[in-house]
Amino acid sequence: MNKIMIAPSILTSSFLNLESVIKELEEVESDYLHLDIMDGVFVPQITFGAKIVSDIKKSSSIPLDVHLMIVNPEKHIDDFAKAGADIISVHYEGNIHIHKIIHQIKSYNIKAGIVLNPHTRVDVIEPIIEDIDYVLIMSVNPGFGGQKFIESSVKKIREAKKLISNRDIILAVDGGVNLNTCNIVIEAGANFLVAGSAIIDSDNKKDTINKLRGNK
Ligand code: DX5
Ligand code: ZN
Repeated sequence: MNKIMIAPSILTSSFLNLESVIKELEEVESDYLHLDIMDGVFVPQITFGAKIVSDIKKSSSIPLDVHLMIVNPEKHIDDFAKAGADIISVHYEGNIHIHKIIHQIKSYNIKAGIVLNPHTRVDVIEPIIEDIDYVLIMSVNPGFGGQKFIESSVKKIREAKKLISNRDIILAVDGGVNLNTCNIVIEAGANFLVAGSAIIDSDNKKDTINKLRGNK
């Protein structure tokens, strides 16, 4: 079986200490850093933009997984790609030109992903499955860290796994992933776990990341 990748989200960490937080996440062998970009319109909070992503890229070698929770992502994709994103994902909801957006991302030779909110059917990815590198199943409603995992996401991960079949597409899950929920999402087929509070609040991040990978 392929290794389970872990992408800590820095959303609930102190942004005043980002450099040391990221250094620590790098030392404990995170596979990606998950960066939640929120615009106060698509979701209530406003986080940060491409300038911070670019600064992070300069100070760290962890690949960057940029999750765009913004309206009109096509206006900002060029900036995030140039800032050093290694994956850019956009929500299916609210975007009427997803195919075009995916190819805008791929024109930078980086991975392009689709994110599905809890209410969105998984089969919407079918027509563009040959174009995408990454599918992210939201297991909370996007907007905040530290929310409770929505159980019905497990069925959606299974459905996505079936649709992906043997294609080389990352199957990611985001929201409420912790030591209690990691095993069911891995068993359902997720191979990329985004975890915010479970890692940021942990006193032993190395051990937590190891356990999130499904290792006892
Ligand atoms: C929520 C974000 C998540 C968030 C996850 O909208 O997309 O990435 O940081 O936080 P936890 O793991 O605490 O649910
Ligand atoms: Zn996220």
